[in-house]
Amino acid sequence: ASINNIQIYVQTKRLTRLCQTKEIVTINGKFPGLAITAQEDDNIVVNVINMTPYNATIHWHGIKQKLSCWYDGPSYITQCPIQSGQRFTYNFTVTQQKGTFFWHAHFSWLRATVYGPLIVYPKANVPYPFKKPFKEHTILLGEYWLKNVVELEKHVLESGGPPPPADAFTINGQPGPNYNCSSKDVYELEIVPRKTYLLRLINAGINMESFFTIANHRLTIVEVDGEYTKPFTTERVMLVPGQTMNVLLTADQPIGRYSIAMGPYESAKNVKFQHTSAIASLRYFGAFPNSVASPAKLPVFNDNIAVKTVMDGLRSLNKVDVPKDVDVDARLFITIGINVNKCNSEDPNNKCQGPRQGRLAASMNNISFVEPKVSILEAYYKKLEGYFTLDFPTAPEKSYDFVNGAPSDIANDTQAANGTRAMVFEYGSRIQIIFQNTGTLTTENHPIHLHGHSFYVIGYGTGNYDQRTARFNLEDPPYLNTIGVPVGGWAAIRFVADNPGLWLLHCHFDIHQTWGMSTMFIVKNGKTVVESLPQPPADLPKC
Ligand code: C2O
Ligand code: CU
Repeated sequence: ASINNIQIYVQTKRLTRLCQTKEIVTINGKFPGLAITAQEDDNIVVNVINMTPYNATIHWHGIKQKLSCWYDGPSYITQCPIQSGQRFTYNFTVTQQKGTFFWHAHFSWLRATVYGPLIVYPKANVPYPFKKPFKEHTILLGEYWLKNVVELEKHVLESGGPPPPADAFTINGQPGPNYNCSSKDVYELEIVPRKTYLLRLINAGINMESFFTIANHRLTIVEVDGEYTKPFTTERVMLVPGQTMNVLLTADQPIGRYSIAMGPYESAKNVKFQHTSAIASLRYFGAFPNSVASPAKLPVFNDNIAVKTVMDGLRSLNKVDVPKDVDVDARLFITIGINVNKCNSEDPNNKCQGPRQGRLAASMNNISFVEPKVSILEAYYKKLEGYFTLDFPTAPEKSYDFVNGAPSDIANDTQAANGTRAMVFEYGSRIQIIFQNTGTLTTENHPIHLHGHSFYVIGYGTGNYDQRTARFNLEDPPYLNTIGVPVGGWAAIRFVADNPGLWLLHCHFDIHQTWGMSTMFIVKNGKTVVESLPQPPADLPKC
């Protein structure tokens, strides 16, 4: 079927939160934005009209955009942004995909308020692999700033320091009673005793990973990033920004009220940002309106064990088809880290290397990504030269000496070079990537997101990757599009590059993306039309 009547107006709107009224960027004046719903294999056509003074694009996070890379959305990667007063029509098919996804702005930090669910239901008569829930609800975890976020990004870059924490965490746009003037800004979920509900959780936060829990109740994870998982029951979950997770919740407690809580997971050592939590309310039908809610207990902010427990619980529902060792065509080792450049931004002879001459730089394989001024996909397609290079290294430069499967001096991953580089893969290549957390400032869990593909997470661990001790799961690893690479550790993924186009690989913390923790890869066309990227749309925005 085709869903083609969606009009999206990117427009500002005055909103009051935390005792302050300010203008935020919204879609159609709603915050959070509208839920787009579809069925597997549907075609979705969305007209976007940008009525704000800012540039904008919309990215369909988790949707593979099979043969429709032009509509993926990251600004300056697959398209020029839609400028103020301009419009663009996204047109894509959710080919063989179902589950919980979301859409968000992919320009500057606009996704702080420009996001909403994208739910793809199974085809008619295709049941879930679990008992049909009584009802479904979507829960968006977010962050709210009182400052204009586009200004905030500029300010953070210019100051050279770390970003300020969000002014509030939110559940479906509401901060809840832990914040100033917010006792009425509470999301409430009403449930019927003894029934089972499906909650579609989406972490739309921009710089924070989040724990989520409900007082006295347990959650059973059944889907992550739009793929079914073996049911895994737990008291709390952790979602990195860019991750989606479906959980079953059974109303098996006495009639009453229970708190729902979302709080930060901060893995960086010695860093304490923001320890307030967003609170929502779970209310059983029949509960007294004023009954006191049982409090929800979040793990402490740096509970790495709680995070590992959730991660260990994620397994694909069935045995899956992971590329075997002998079949891997390309092996990459990618360090991800944040560096403090040895420099002085005032001294012309010792200029800082970070994006816009900042002191802090984030990088992949020691290359700090410089955002281009054109659409790289267009430049690649039209063979325009001078905007990017094809030499993103398969391991950190300066340390090609491999010992036990890893570069010998990963720990020395310091000064980053600037660059806009891509790597190129033949259609159908089977790729393995080991992500290694490094960094001279501190290391932390980085939510690494790949556009256009999902990947099997076949292993992860703490410390430096070592092939003698690393254990891979090739039986039932989870199939994700975003992986939280453990703090100070590593994660290994495998996937088949079967989607022609140009795809962004980046940290889903906006601040790290701003500092340059991104790279791109190009998947070449295959031999046939159905393996090739079609022509660019006629109405592609201009830069
Ligand atoms: Cu939610 Cu570039 O991604
Ligand atoms: Cu990061």
